[in-house]
Amino acid sequence: MRVLVTPDYRTLSRQAAEIIADAVRFEPRLTLGLPTGSTPLGMYEELVRKHSDENLDFSRVKTFNLDEYIGLAPGHPSSYHTYMHLHFFDHVRIPIKHIHIPDGAPGIDTDRESIRYEQAIQQAGGIDLLVVGIGSNGHIAFNEPGSSFASRTRIVDLARETRANAGRYFASEDEVPRRAITVGIGTILESRRILLLASGSGKSGAVARALQGPVSEDMPASALRGHFDVTAILDEAATPLPPIAGVIGRAW
Ligand code: GLP
Repeated sequence: MRVLVTPDYRTLSRQAAEIIADAVRFEPRLTLGLPTGSTPLGMYEELVRKHSDENLDFSRVKTFNLDEYIGLAPGHPSSYHTYMHLHFFDHVRIPIKHIHIPDGAPGIDTDRESIRYEQAIQQAGGIDLLVVGIGSNGHIAFNEPGSSFASRTRIVDLARETRANAGRYFASEDEVPRRAITVGIGTILESRRILLLASGSGKSGAVARALQGPVSEDMPASALRGHFDVTAILDEAATPLPPIAGVIGRAW
């Protein structure tokens, strides 16, 4: 794993956007795996800026989001559908048929949707570049501690810590759904290239365990160490001390 340490969130966001932009310029038909949460907000903002100022072209890019809550209609203000349109898709020229987000709407057949989504990724030829954040308990997408490293797209129960952290996006913590649909760790590991983003001191413990602790299903993000092409972009606050082996540089 390559580790890039940046001084602050803004630089982290710019570095992540630059890596994506380079990949899209090199391969305009790229398939991206995309995350949600507070961490990638700056990255999306920067990609939107590059789209307008530098003519970064997403018109042939395909995207697959990593997860969605179960029980929220796509138009729900706290759904990941809403997040993605608000922060990214509504601001770039990308055909709607190129956008894929798991469907967690009330009443859907969740098992069928899990299979459909996994197959859609395979049919697109897999994910070329997947961007992922990390939960404070080490989850990636919504793969909570205990998830198999071979897991595929499926329905999961959210950990208490995950629901507590998500409470800020809902009227109250009680309203945070108890279940989600997520791509699996096996699905993530099949991506050709992975970018892991972590910002803020609240993540340094999880980053330390993921990058330096035992590789274990108790720490889902540690699975990334088994992949041959992962770049972790951390800001100073999220970087554990002493520094991690594998640091390739500092971007200032
Ligand atoms: C949620 C998302 C994850 C994300 C995590 C961290 O659980 N499903 O994909 O990585 O939150 O979010 P944040 O970036 O807000 O800390």
